[in-house]
Amino acid sequence: MNMHELYERAQTAAFASYSPYSRFRVGAALLCSDSTVFIGTNVENRSFGLTICAERSAIVSAVSAGRRDFTALAISTPDSDYPVSPCGACRQVLSEFVPSDFPVLFGGRSGGTVETTAGALMPYDALHELGK
Ligand code: THU
Repeated sequence: MNMHELYERAQTAAFASYSPYSRFRVGAALLCSDSTVFIGTNVENRSFGLTICAERSAIVSAVSAGRRDFTALAISTPDSDYPVSPCGACRQVLSEFVPSDFPVLFGGRSGGTVETTAGALMPYDALHELGK
């Protein structure tokens, strides 16, 4: 599966978004080494701080299924006019499981897509030895 196909999975995942408060849908698709894809969407709550982002939904789903062999992440924000990058919390959680050269692609309703890496999103990341 290529990055474009993964991005299409993220676009589809955004349709399941539960976002009645922000009206901002997000979909994420996390690729594993055998081409398995785990999807996630943002799930909001009337206690606003309990909202979970699409990226963390996908990561939690994959890890819950026993998978950590991630090879790429795509994110779709169809309610934005430009590509929206992952929030700080999601960058931190992603960095727990992937190397700095891990590919991340994100795109909005227009403005094309941006392809970057986990390391570019989370520079000076450290303390990986704590997870060993
Ligand atoms: N959101 C995500 O799911 N991922 C991001 O990287 C940015 C923000 C969600 C959280 C909330 O439901 C809505 O988008 C608006 O912030």
